Amino acid sequence: MSEPPKILALLHEHRVIDPPEEFQRNAIADSEDIYEEAEADLEGFWASQAERLHWSQRWTRVLEWNPPWVKWFIGGRLNVSVNCLDRHLDSIPDRVAYYWEGEPGDERRITYRELHDEVCRFANALRRIGVRRGDRVAIYMGMIPELPIAMLACARIGALHSVVFGGFAAEALKDRINDASAEVLITADGGWRRGDIVPLKQSADEALEGSPTIRHAVVVRRTGQDVSMQSGRDLWYHELIEGEDTECPAEDMDSEDPLYVLYTSGTTGKPKGILHTTGGYLTGVSTTHRLIFDIHPETDVFWCAADIGWVTGHSYIVYGPLANGTTSIMYEGAPNFPDKDRLWAIVEKYGVTILYTAPTAIRAFMKWGERYPKAHDMSSLRLLGSVGEPINPEAWMWYWTHIGGERCPIVDTWWQTETGMILITPLPGITRLKPGSATRPFPGIQADVLDESGNPVPPGAGGYLVLRRPWPAQFRTIYGAPERYVEQYFSRFGPEIYLTGDGVKRDDDGDFWLLGRIDDVMNVSGHRLSTYEIESALVDHTAVAESAVVSRPDPATGEAIVAFVTLKADVEGDEALIGELREHVAKMIGKIARPHGIILTEDLPKTRSGKIMRRLLRDVARGQALGDVSTLANAEIVKEISTMASEMAEEE
Ligand code: WT7
Repeated sequence: MSEPPKILALLHEHRVIDPPEEFQRNAIADSEDIYEEAEADLEGFWASQAERLHWSQRWTRVLEWNPPWVKWFIGGRLNVSVNCLDRHLDSIPDRVAYYWEGEPGDERRITYRELHDEVCRFANALRRIGVRRGDRVAIYMGMIPELPIAMLACARIGALHSVVFGGFAAEALKDRINDASAEVLITADGGWRRGDIVPLKQSADEALEGSPTIRHAVVVRRTGQDVSMQSGRDLWYHELIEGEDTECPAEDMDSEDPLYVLYTSGTTGKPKGILHTTGGYLTGVSTTHRLIFDIHPETDVFWCAADIGWVTGHSYIVYGPLANGTTSIMYEGAPNFPDKDRLWAIVEKYGVTILYTAPTAIRAFMKWGERYPKAHDMSSLRLLGSVGEPINPEAWMWYWTHIGGERCPIVDTWWQTETGMILITPLPGITRLKPGSATRPFPGIQADVLDESGNPVPPGAGGYLVLRRPWPAQFRTIYGAPERYVEQYFSRFGPEIYLTGDGVKRDDDGDFWLLGRIDDVMNVSGHRLSTYEIESALVDHTAVAESAVVSRPDPATGEAIVAFVTLKADVEGDEALIGELREHVAKMIGKIARPHGIILTEDLPKTRSGKIMRRLLRDVARGQALGDVSTLANAEIVKEISTMASEMAEEE
């Protein structure tokens, strides 16, 4: 059972910013009517958006809603890679799809024609090594052009891709490969990060020791160091595509055929494979991309500075922008390499017009100082976006002033891996902006704020953010676990109401202010991490008996991870061991999951049924007054832990 959402005090933020007049004049969405149209005829609204795509066969029905199961564009047929590539070949073959920049400074400029040809060659090669419609292909690489190429090649032949973020460690990769029973892994020798090589193939080799379903690993040469290639299993990408044709017949997919799986952390249990399908997903991401980022594809240079390993990159680096014939930037490396102005140098060099990034990045830019953006001409920018966590008003104002030159609207976009597309957001030519608020639901989206009993809460109060009716890009299930889909998202308030897991407050104007997750999932630097995975990694260490992971607010990363750990009886805990445990988590999950603080304790507070009371630990970690401890089986331990936690806080 979820706990009540944290009802935070009202943010005292009253600034409002109207859309700049010039922006308004040229905006694609330029009138409130769009909200009314979608409200009056939801299916008609989405059908007219779907008509912008190429369908080999038109749908017979727009929406089928058997709560909690949903289908969009029933009977329709299309191929996503055809819509992202072939469809543009007559009109804009020479338009740049990606300006790619490697971290060391190398560049590639890939037109729609070139991207099409490369995708076809790789799709043919994948077919040749036996990849068929419906098969699962894992992709584990850095931000290089072969990443979207691999995704589109899978889409072309009807295989599902499962992209695993290149910053994850071998163990996390292995779990994800095994959950989806992937047959092929596409990876690279390495990737560049802050001047160092991330040894991707080496991690992949470790993962593959425990991944029996993988038949082949395809390896892109990027960093060029020696890697071991297992004969028969491992294939070089450049050898594999040699001689392949630049045409490749695309599979004719049903609108409801799966497009991809993307793993995201859950509150309990192992990572969830979020399953997205074809027609509704592409309609949803292309529509939101076009209207929210006000895409004028002839002139815009769009930069979503996320990693394709997260859903943001899937929807707004790959599928949305390509479906809209957009020119995008793709950058391989770190924002502070070789110096802290790398992003601004790229904005200047390519004349970026739209930049979409995360609050955690914006806070880092703030910390580094305004002299870095000031050193560059950023007058090409006309629109800014934010995603991943609530953006605090100071960071919003800094972004507005120092990056946007007080002329670029900021779209604070709320959504999730599960929603596939942005759902709560300003439309930049229409919406009055409030720093810190994601403002209002996208046309056709019905968001609400409910209390514990499922009643809408009055303005100003906090509650559960829910969605009351379907949208086309929503996930269809959890891969291999439909019962978890029902249980986790559609049971709290019944099968018709989607539970987002976020807390939210609505103000007197009806604008939404997100308050963060209400469950045990943490949001660190804009990435959702599960307490469960980190606890499992800790317990994996030979010294550890049990652990509970919580978070506390952190000015730099949003939330910081605090782990409570009980050691095995014969183990002596010291600073060296704490360091070792932190590294162990980094090795098993990735550096981002490394606990900020570890508190060694004799025991953990538990209910009588043996459930760890994370809520109490969270209060301890945050130095808050403790609530009711009467249900505890071992109340005395809480006092002990509190003392240790406050000692740790003082040391910091
Ligand atoms: C969670 C989803 C959507 C892509 C990135 C993360 C938080 C996301 C916002 C925002 C406040 C936000 C929510 C959400 N979140 N965008 N604009 N304002 N919170 O995808 O890993 O699935 O995480 O990120 O808590 O539930 P994700």
